Amino acid sequence: MTVGSNGRKPAARHLGRRLALAAALACTGGLAHADALPLIPLPADIRQTEGSLAIDAHTVIAYAPGDRGAEAAAVYLAAELKRSRGLSLTPIPTRQPPHGAIVLRTDPATRVTQADGYTLDITGDGARIASRGDAGLFYGAVTLWQLASADGQQGATHVPDVAIRDWPRFAWRGLMLDVARHFHDVAAVKQVLDAMAEHKLNVFHWHLSDDQGWRIQIRRYPRLTDVGAWRTPPGAGTFGEPERYGGFYTQEQIRDVVAYAAARHITVVPELDMPGHAQAAVAAYPELVGVTGEHPAVSVDWGVNPYLYNVDDKSFTFIENVLDEVMALFPSTYIHLGGDEAVKDQWKQSPAVQAKMASLGIKDENALQSWFTDRLGDYLAKHGRRLIGWDEILEGGLPRTASVMSWRGVEGAVAAAKQDHDVVLAPAGWMYFDNLQSDRADEPNGRLSVLDLKRVYGFEPVDASLTPEQARHVLGTEATLWSEFIPSTRHIQHALFPRLDAMAEIAWSPRDVRNWDSFLQRLPAQVRRYAALDIDASDTAFAPGIHLDEPVSGILRAGKATVRIDTQVTFGTIRYTTDGSLPDTQAKAYAAPFDVTLPTTVRAATFAPDGTRMAAVRSRVIDRDTLLTRRTGELTKCADGSLGLRMPLLPDLGAMDTAVFDIDLFHACWAYPAAPLDGITGIRVDVARLARNYGLAHELSKVVSYPAKTAYGELEIHQDTCAGPLLASLPLPPGKSLGERFVLQGKLPAVRGDHDLCLRSTAPITGPLYGLGSVKLTGPAQ
Ligand code: ACM
Repeated sequence: MTVGSNGRKPAARHLGRRLALAAALACTGGLAHADALPLIPLPADIRQTEGSLAIDAHTVIAYAPGDRGAEAAAVYLAAELKRSRGLSLTPIPTRQPPHGAIVLRTDPATRVTQADGYTLDITGDGARIASRGDAGLFYGAVTLWQLASADGQQGATHVPDVAIRDWPRFAWRGLMLDVARHFHDVAAVKQVLDAMAEHKLNVFHWHLSDDQGWRIQIRRYPRLTDVGAWRTPPGAGTFGEPERYGGFYTQEQIRDVVAYAAARHITVVPELDMPGHAQAAVAAYPELVGVTGEHPAVSVDWGVNPYLYNVDDKSFTFIENVLDEVMALFPSTYIHLGGDEAVKDQWKQSPAVQAKMASLGIKDENALQSWFTDRLGDYLAKHGRRLIGWDEILEGGLPRTASVMSWRGVEGAVAAAKQDHDVVLAPAGWMYFDNLQSDRADEPNGRLSVLDLKRVYGFEPVDASLTPEQARHVLGTEATLWSEFIPSTRHIQHALFPRLDAMAEIAWSPRDVRNWDSFLQRLPAQVRRYAALDIDASDTAFAPGIHLDEPVSGILRAGKATVRIDTQVTFGTIRYTTDGSLPDTQAKAYAAPFDVTLPTTVRAATFAPDGTRMAAVRSRVIDRDTLLTRRTGELTKCADGSLGLRMPLLPDLGAMDTAVFDIDLFHACWAYPAAPLDGITGIRVDVARLARNYGLAHELSKVVSYPAKTAYGELEIHQDTCAGPLLASLPLPPGKSLGERFVLQGKLPAVRGDHDLCLRSTAPITGPLYGLGSVKLTGPAQ
């Protein structure tokens, strides 16, 4: 490797002045050096020289007649230039490309010998992409497209003179989309595939079945989709949403998606989750695959549900018939058969299953799952395929033929690699994008545990404990998007971007070129691309947080406050106003905390060094009213050992700007820190009645029940802690309708000074959940 973000030669650092790219950067006079060449993932080797190449309506994209790989990459490049810039270029087969052309060429003698590698050479005379194979040509086209789309503008542009030698670090650069919890249609899936291709990701793991839905048409078993693809969720129909929620892909649609992916060098790995997460299948065919003889409905509960596949011959015949259709649809070598979170209660309680275990000499239910997985692994192997499963498949002894996808940390991958099995790293602590990106109150639905951009970027798929031999079993890494809290395309976009940029760099770039500061410098171009492509990427990492660190009581007494502004990621400049105007690149730069007199409104935005706005304007009104109010997201945890979720009013509401409510599934309480109680006489709480749609399996015992005085329970206000003096008890109203909002008001006794408050719901834990939209302290005048 000759260059890296740490080792580029100064001589190669010039950027031509004619660059449109530089023009985009020029508003602040910033001159990008080679590290900031706007490419994500960063290529293995970049040498940049002075000069640039124009790409405009007259540019020819050329490939030699009969060079199919080059033709395909050329067609893709033209389509991407059209999509992002509105440029219409037609690829042409020719052996004599004109001056200034973009030429793609399959070349068995290309110097980059690594699998899927390529060379890209740009001079004022033209651009040349060469590779030994089709995928390399494709990735070369992606790199050129990234250079050509970095300004986010329409029409003609320039790309810098550069010589790139590049290849992927890992063969498995994956993204999983769960379409079972919320269904995402073919158009949404294709958008994800487009984005994957633009990030050089190459495995689309399609989570097609779960307790809450079966999403793939199986001709032999029509009830899988007639029944299994639909559910009637809690609160269905309340806000004009349909009564029945669901959807599925026909086999024709699946073929279309597989072909669309293949054209982007993406392999689609289907997942049918088994033996657990099987409720939709059992709902469709209880007599064929069920264990208990029950006829459950498709589940409406997120989490872990009890239904398992049976292990008798009927069940295997069913699964194998399903797999026959799946293998006919998906050319992927790997078929993912889940294996996660299969609580074994039904197997334990079934005399037939126990008898089968005894007859097979299998010692426990984990070993039975291993046997189940092994048998299906053999079936796939007989058809030239391979089984991959979540790391629970290790628990009863690793099935002989299986590869492992590690999600509960990296330990499963390490253990499997040490046993000579191939592994993919998708550890929840780094790669689960259903976790929110910050603790900001303006994040949408999601898990309240935070997975921020920098943490994703810091993940290393090859554990230090692996020998070089064992490390060869690390196929790569994968980001996952579980969709309990991802009901719409906008939610997908918010969750994926820009964290997928960080993930892509881990998966593609050599370890020694990865560099966080360099990554940040390359993000403004990505922000511009996202805007050009109408992708609603999250701006969380750069969103200004407008803080008041002094006690509210002091601010109210003084009539003034000190404002501190920060961002999660330190990058660029925060600019702000206090006169109500929207901050632009000319607004005052934030340097240190500043004083304001109440009432006031502080508005802030973050700008990259090149002037790109990295985050939408955030505003904070600072007056008596807002100082005495805490919204959901501004209340804090009231107990340890929480399972925090940010929920919409109803589980399937698709709007991005819908109200959300933070809850702790285990403790129905919230803390209002340092409430200024001097002169406070009352409290007003905006409450929502929410679905308690969670399958907690063995974790159910963690749900704490607080004693109620009335049938529907109360919202209790305690002083200092939840065990402190009871200041008020506001009865929750009768009624069951989910998604309903109401206001509870009550008096508070005179208490002096600042105190934390605990707000606690005593609603029975067998009924709905309650969420707090806001809590407002009121004085005599309010
Ligand atoms: C998983 O998150 N249950 C694989």
